[in-house]
Amino acid sequence: MPDATSLPDVPPEAWSGVHRGPLRAGEWVRLLDQKGRRHNFELVPGKRFFSNRGHLDHDDLIGREEGFTIPSSVGGEYLVFRPLLSEFVVSMPRGAAVVYPKDSAQIIAMADIFPGAVVVEAGVGSGALTCSLLRAVGPLGRVLSFERREEFADVARANVTQFFGADHPAWELRIGDLTEGLTASGQRADRIILDMLAPWECVDAVSDALMPGGILIAYVATTTQLSRFIETVRAHGGFTDPHAWESLVRDWHVEGLAVRPGHKMMGHTAFLVTARRMAPGEQAPRKKRRPAPGAYGVDYTGPRPVDLPPQVLEEEFGD
Ligand SMILES: C[S@@+](CC[C@H](N)C(=O)[O-])C[C@H]1O[C@@H](n2cnc3c(N)ncnc32)[C@H](O)[C@@H]1O
Repeated sequence: MPDATSLPDVPPEAWSGVHRGPLRAGEWVRLLDQKGRRHNFELVPGKRFFSNRGHLDHDDLIGREEGFTIPSSVGGEYLVFRPLLSEFVVSMPRGAAVVYPKDSAQIIAMADIFPGAVVVEAGVGSGALTCSLLRAVGPLGRVLSFERREEFADVARANVTQFFGADHPAWELRIGDLTEGLTASGQRADRIILDMLAPWECVDAVSDALMPGGILIAYVATTTQLSRFIETVRAHGGFTDPHAWESLVRDWHVEGLAVRPGHKMMGHTAFLVTARRMAPGEQAPRKKRRPAPGAYGVDYTGPRPVDLPPQVLEEEFGD
């Protein structure tokens, strides 16, 4: 049976951003100290890493198989691994807030991002989600990313290039607003992902670009954004009824008989919404259940679903 070190390096044409085998100069490593502090740096021959726990030489790391501990000059130990994608995106430089790994995983799964897919995203922000999208579509797919702030696009480009080690062949980054850029490009897409303040402004552009059966997914931080986006998609009429959810991840402490949920938890990141594009001229089936009384009552001022039954309007506004 081959030992754990016998696999060859991951082929560069896979564009995984992952290496196997001994650590090499130019690669990034992640050090974890005994207090849980993390340090990420690029291995450079002859260079020295300094922290409040002393120093260590990069040359002492280069050439070793990852997964080892190394003492620092003033005692204490560091655990050394290559960073995982989920670790890289939360420690890389940020322009805008990133999509957290738990949500990237949901987006990849629930938007059914597949190898070879054509995916459009906006905004690119710091490029965290872009890394996951490129991993999922692979070199035969295409990710077209729009970002209207050039300084964020620069951060994203540096992060994505660092993760994959070179310019990913499936990625194109355009500076500008998705609503204008996507329409002007004439690009069609299997999947479109909106992570921005006002995704409802993009619904018309998205509906023109998305293939029949394609998936629109939005990532929004607040309930007011969630409501406005969903009602805009409903009012458009060319999508299935949107599905909204959030994911909560809770760590567990497991030690002997002390088995309990962890004390800390990331309570909220954002909500996710998906809807599928209907074929041109087709309307999504009407909902069987009528909206709750008051759902679209006098206090509601937003967009109205195209299939709102007339009796609801009469009941709500009749007196
Ligand atoms: C929260 S960040 C995106 C984070 C990114 N998804 C990540 O994982 O790193 C939102 C970004 O959307 C950009 N943005 C907002 N509206 C946009 C639009 N209509 N077109 C293009 N970019 C937009 C903003 O400039 C900002 O950088």
